[in-house]
Amino acid sequence: MKIDGKAWRSIWVQPDGWSVGIIDQTKLPHAFITARLASASEASHAIKSMMVRGAPLIGATAAYGLCFALREDASDNALNRAYAFLLAARPTAINLRWALDEMRNLLLPLPPAQRVEAGYATAAKICDDDVAICENIGVHGLRLIEDAARDNPEREVNILTHCNAGWLATVDWGTALAPIYMAHDAGVNVHVWVDETRPRNQGAALTAWELGKHGVPHTIIADNAGGHLMQHARVDMCIVGTDRTTARGDVCNKIGTYLKALAAHDNGVPFYVALPSTTIDWTIEDGIASIPIEERAPEEMTRITGRTANGDLCDVDIAAPGSPAGNYAFDVTPARLVSGLITERGVCAASSTAMLELFPERGK
Ligand code: MRU
Repeated sequence: MKIDGKAWRSIWVQPDGWSVGIIDQTKLPHAFITARLASASEASHAIKSMMVRGAPLIGATAAYGLCFALREDASDNALNRAYAFLLAARPTAINLRWALDEMRNLLLPLPPAQRVEAGYATAAKICDDDVAICENIGVHGLRLIEDAARDNPEREVNILTHCNAGWLATVDWGTALAPIYMAHDAGVNVHVWVDETRPRNQGAALTAWELGKHGVPHTIIADNAGGHLMQHARVDMCIVGTDRTTARGDVCNKIGTYLKALAAHDNGVPFYVALPSTTIDWTIEDGIASIPIEERAPEEMTRITGRTANGDLCDVDIAAPGSPAGNYAFDVTPARLVSGLITERGVCAASSTAMLELFPERGK
């Protein structure tokens, strides 16, 4: 996607040919700052601190993190140690494990002397594949938006999204936002309701920034406003991303997604989830029982970062000193509340049968 006319990906290999560049997402939207990652520790720190975030992007970052470790020591032991170290960075998004498995499965059978080169080639392929997958998600999701536009030709299509599932969360295009970008580019009149997404405000800080850079009309709303808007027919569909979707279509995504799905169900608003197949955890069925939900530092609830009038970034406390806070980062929306999964191979129902029809190789 473009920022002020220049095409960017969210991660890239630097001119030195081995370290990678990222956009420090903790500084957006106030400052556009890039950072260089050159060790497995730096990659892990970038994932933990959410300089990079979003399920596909943390997978891609971990893949390069493994390459950095192999540059220092390409033995089996070092590979397995780096795998475990990077996997521990964040627990919920399955793409982290998927990308590390792809790397390890391909590299372990090779002689150590070939692992660095093969590792970089695999990490680059993970990134390129993610771009192609997200583009296809966009193509399939675009049809849903075009259908909604045909139903109401006299007004805009209003789409509600939660958190950031745009190009910043992937390598390019995004998942939930890819169909929206394509609809906008195709001349469909779209407007996006952007949930601010407390506590880290990925909606207000990242989604609104991305949409604004692309010229897509949008409005930031408080996380609790979606139900009200749906009751007044001001939402035509919800499209969200996911960090892990189970084999029967339960969807784990940023905390608050479940409440939006409940409100959508109560108001007859279609609730779509856009996902690359790399986000499907085929080993589990029941998302509520099986998906580990990350609990982050309470300070993310009680303190907020913003820009002061003189342009400096500043942290302020928003709770009484010492108030305890619980910071659950994700929730699970049961498949019965999901109208459809938008994947790179097409749109399907959130059910084992429909998912296996699209991905028959997983049924073996
Ligand atoms: O904690 P984050 O910002 O890494 O969480 C990411 C999300 O939950 C995104 O909204 C998303 O839907 C999954 S990534 C495309």
